[in-house]
Amino acid sequence: MNASISPDQLPVLLRQHKQEHLLAYLDSLAPPAREQLASDIVNVDFALMERLYGKTTPVAGEDTPQAKAARATALEDVVRQPASADDEQAWQSAHQQGLELLRAGKVAAVLVAGGQGTRLGFPHPKGMFPIGPVSNVTLFQIFFEQIKARSAQAGVVIPYYIMTSDATHEDTEKFLEEHNYFGLDRGTVKLFKQGTMPAVDAATGQLLVGDDDLLVRSPDGHGGILNALAKNGIFDQLAERGIEYLYYHQVDNPTGILCEPALLGFHAMRRSDMTTKVAAKRSADEKMGVLALVDGKTEIIEYSDMPTDVAEKLDSRGNLMFWAGNMAVHVFNVDFLRRITFGETQLPYHTAHKKVPFKSAEGEVQSPKTPNAYKFERFIFDALPLAYKTLVVEADRKREFNPVKNAEGNDSPATSKEALINLHRSWLQQAGVSVPADCVVEISPLFALDAEGVQARANELKLEGSSVYLK
Ligand code: UD1
Repeated sequence: MNASISPDQLPVLLRQHKQEHLLAYLDSLAPPAREQLASDIVNVDFALMERLYGKTTPVAGEDTPQAKAARATALEDVVRQPASADDEQAWQSAHQQGLELLRAGKVAAVLVAGGQGTRLGFPHPKGMFPIGPVSNVTLFQIFFEQIKARSAQAGVVIPYYIMTSDATHEDTEKFLEEHNYFGLDRGTVKLFKQGTMPAVDAATGQLLVGDDDLLVRSPDGHGGILNALAKNGIFDQLAERGIEYLYYHQVDNPTGILCEPALLGFHAMRRSDMTTKVAAKRSADEKMGVLALVDGKTEIIEYSDMPTDVAEKLDSRGNLMFWAGNMAVHVFNVDFLRRITFGETQLPYHTAHKKVPFKSAEGEVQSPKTPNAYKFERFIFDALPLAYKTLVVEADRKREFNPVKNAEGNDSPATSKEALINLHRSWLQQAGVSVPADCVVEISPLFALDAEGVQARANELKLEGSSVYLK
């Protein structure tokens, strides 16, 4: 960064980095807009932007994501869902071990919630989306209640860190304040904002100026969490609190299990730096990143980088070779995250070619009809190949992965609500509670976290009416 640069040094800086077009914008503005743009500019890491723009032109012989995908091979070591008595025992002891870590106060949860519900036609932070089939409670409420219930189960307070973005921070904070953090102690919840990256013109590499007379910027991806943790003093806070593990999840899956003891247990028992939960893909073309071995290391290949013929590859038994879909549930050693935040090896940037509106030097707003600019972002899952030791654990997909992504069809509010209803009905049935066929039941995490939790309270239950919310 160039924060020590004074305004009169700007022309030199801009010429040096071939960004002198910005001088015309600065000249066209009156104070205070001119100072605001100037201070925006001095905060740009020009060397980084040059490097990233340079990488957008393919160089012969250079590795591409598609080439990496083409030489990927199947995962070799996955903890699969239990299929035998021995497996059951291994999962049980992992569960016990995970509970010990939780009880010892070594675990915090982290939610990445920088995204809005745009694909759902919901112009708010996605966590505010109502998903409870009976209660209409939001995604946020389900997560907060899980943290509260898991804390009670472990007899500790599990801190909850929530990454927001410019687009979601204020609304999220206001919403959580209004709902009193759904019963969590305010001091144990921390909202922190991810950073941004400037967008550049695809033809020239020039930084773009927007309608607000500031540089056009976009969120730096969920991998931006590392810089954001550092910038907000959270690594220090984690150290003070004695937190050794971060349980990471994303905002769109109401059936996701937060701080699942077995996953934490496997992570610790195998001395993993980063452990990832996977769900078997529905089909080769499902939009999930997949886990694979690339040059001997475990990686996630994002669906947009996966050539169709590679995604469709079958193994000798006729199953998808790249079956293991990324659920975006990870356990990290805090020490590992520190290393890849402050050390020499850091997360790479991905480039997206997008239509980005901007203001011309003559002051006219342009809305391109075809992609005109590059945006840059980091993905947290690129941490996998940087780890010394990783682990992949399979989830029970039906139980754990029912995200809300699309307005209709697969992965929509309708499918997600149906999954919640079926799950909660099955817990009640396992506990021997009879549920009338036409009765819709929803269970708050505060009532029970799982079938065993329902079992313990089965004698309190009497289901009457066509819809019941147990809380
Ligand atoms: C993501 C994964 C995909 C995985 C799928 C599982 C990526 C790039 N892809 O796809 O591999 O199989 O989930 O559901 O992650 N977010 C931020 N800041 C950002 C960008 C995203 O906080 O700058 C958060 C969002 O709020 C959300 C999560 O990251 O919680 C995932 O983002 P999204 O763009 O919805 O990813 P998908 O395309 O669904």
